[in-house]
Amino acid sequence: MNSKHLTFALTVCILSLAPFAGKAQKANIEHRVDSLLNLMTLEEKIGQMNQYSGFWEATGPITEQGNKLEQVRTGQLGSLLNITGVDHTRQLQEMALQSRLKIPLLFGQDVVHGYRTIFPLPLAEAASWDIEAIERSARVAAVEASAVGVHWTFAPMVDISHDPRWGRVMEGAGEDPYLGSLIAAARVKGFQGKGFGNTDAVMACVKHFAAYGAAEAGRDYNRVEMSRRELNEIYLRPFKAAVEAGAATLMNSFNDINGIPATGNKYIQREVLKGEWKFDGFVVSDWGSIGEMVNHGFSKDCYQAAQQAITAGSDMDMESRCYIGNLAQLVKDGKVDERLINDAVRRILTKKFEMGLFDDPYRYSDSERAKQQWDNKANLEASRDMAKKSIVLLKNDNQLLPLDTKRKTIAMIGPMVKAVRDNLGFWSYSWPDDTARIVTHWQGISNRAGKNVKMVYAKGCDINSTSKAGFAEALRVARQSDVIIMSIGEAGNMSGEAKSRSNIHLPGVQEELVEAVCATGKPVILLINAGRPLIFNSASEKAQAILYTWWLGTEAGNAIADVLFGDYNPSGKLPMTFPRSEGQIPVYYNHFSTGRPPKNETDVNYVSSYIDLPNSPKYPFGYGLSYTTFKYSEPVLSKTAMNAGETIAVKVSVTNTGNYDGKETVQLYIHDLVGSVVRPVKQLIGFQQVFLKKGETREVTFTISINDLKFYNDDLNLVAEPGDFEVFVGGSSATELKKTFTLL
Ligand code: NOJ
Repeated sequence: MNSKHLTFALTVCILSLAPFAGKAQKANIEHRVDSLLNLMTLEEKIGQMNQYSGFWEATGPITEQGNKLEQVRTGQLGSLLNITGVDHTRQLQEMALQSRLKIPLLFGQDVVHGYRTIFPLPLAEAASWDIEAIERSARVAAVEASAVGVHWTFAPMVDISHDPRWGRVMEGAGEDPYLGSLIAAARVKGFQGKGFGNTDAVMACVKHFAAYGAAEAGRDYNRVEMSRRELNEIYLRPFKAAVEAGAATLMNSFNDINGIPATGNKYIQREVLKGEWKFDGFVVSDWGSIGEMVNHGFSKDCYQAAQQAITAGSDMDMESRCYIGNLAQLVKDGKVDERLINDAVRRILTKKFEMGLFDDPYRYSDSERAKQQWDNKANLEASRDMAKKSIVLLKNDNQLLPLDTKRKTIAMIGPMVKAVRDNLGFWSYSWPDDTARIVTHWQGISNRAGKNVKMVYAKGCDINSTSKAGFAEALRVARQSDVIIMSIGEAGNMSGEAKSRSNIHLPGVQEELVEAVCATGKPVILLINAGRPLIFNSASEKAQAILYTWWLGTEAGNAIADVLFGDYNPSGKLPMTFPRSEGQIPVYYNHFSTGRPPKNETDVNYVSSYIDLPNSPKYPFGYGLSYTTFKYSEPVLSKTAMNAGETIAVKVSVTNTGNYDGKETVQLYIHDLVGSVVRPVKQLIGFQQVFLKKGETREVTFTISINDLKFYNDDLNLVAEPGDFEVFVGGSSATELKKTFTLL
């Protein structure tokens, strides 16, 4: 046998043994968990279900500082959040090992879009529709965070939302359950890498279970009232995808669902998650959400809240101290069965064993590895790549973009041009105070423009003030230039947790600044930075070109320059509908058919519309331009009727008809014409990204199977009902290119 054969034989052998090794390892861990559980007192078990925030970087209201260190030493704490750094994590782990059973701590942190290298906001990443790049982004974050002791990230956030007033839309993947599910799974895989046992695998925590994104009126932490059908069909789908992708943990949410707080909600946690979906990881509460059931008026006190939360399936208490203070008494009083506690602790310990923490509690705190990851070139390159793919071109009149470097003078105007930390956006707490490495818009664009271009600058106004004192200077600078780039939008901390806004127009006097600058008659390009869809109707009419740049992270300025000068042809597509007015909210593409649909935009005659506004949004879901243009052929179906076990192929030819090579995201939607429950007017069921050289045509094929046609009926069964379907193909959800087929 030569060496090639030998390698082949060994590979086959290893691969065929892999499932047995996996099973044996699982059995071994089960055995170790059981042995440990047998040794534990009730108090020690409850300790494992207790989690506090560390001593700095609080990401919520601290209940009490108290006796945390003593509790670590005496085994009354299973996990800490907001503790990072090789030294800190080592010190605390050493303390945990002084406890009777020497059970190591789990260190959790909100590593939401990067750790040291900050990536674009998750909503921005979703605009790339590039699932591989999104997985890579999570991978880089995990590699960096795991090197400084982080075992567990509170991400991905997979909450669907139809409401841009809600500040946390920046943290999710937008409004669509199909796209959201693919992204949820990709992020879980990215964080967890090749699996636990590898020191760069970080446990994912999928949040917020559930329906947090449907908070009434877009006000954070607010109630949610919705049918179980809608919950399952839309809001739970990305969670299910994440669980199927192997997510280790879930976090429940602050809101109530139909009157029952999610934290005390048996239906979602016990029945759906741990029952139907057979989830074997553990559930952590959100910050203080067990204690907050008292504020909800659902629990009389912390004692009752602890009973309700454990009964409903919440395994770990983040920062409310209700478990540590009451569970033992509840068991003694016969109100909580100790078996529920055993189940929760078994789940938590299993993860600690899987992570290898009992074999080496310090394996994640590695200064050598941390050094290699700090300002790591490959990571920065991955962030820049993700950032340029996240930018969405909303308008490009007269092909103003891409810019060439023949322009003699470029003016940069606006409060974001030289912004530094804002580029990181919300959830970038771990970033140290040395802001030097963030590439501002000014730096990135000036570098790329080169020495032959004169760059001039004026701030014009602050992000959110009423002063127009800077306008005159801005206009003076504008008049000197050949082209103007305006960087405007929300501050980095205007979207995020507890950052709901009733008014989502451009803040302060920024829109007036745009109007004034446009009135000079010079060509104006807008860079709009935000964590949510904003409203900027007047600015959008007056400026010639608009790039929606969100907040792009460490490499923001470089990525924007890549796109502005055409080194990268923009390919982003909106993951959320952009409203014309707050009055349209909630507005989303996959809305449901009504009995009185308007015939056209101006039809107001006893139809479901507004008398003062069209129903259509400002920019639809899936929309985004390119420097080139794409032409779609009529879609062709392989047949017009299919049986349940069959599939239908949908073929469409896409041609690059413009002057630049470019990438298009070809989207596939269906409309179920008649259902036993009312169906959405369109639903995304597939997409493919194709890169086409100018003049090139490519045929894109989708396959539709019965699974793509299923929905929850009134009895909560997932069914596909026979009948007619429309299939739409195109470059956004507004496409009208369609064909029909029948499910027999
Ligand atoms: C509250 C937030 O809702 C949650 O997303 C976060 O993970 C925790 N605080 C911890 O910071």
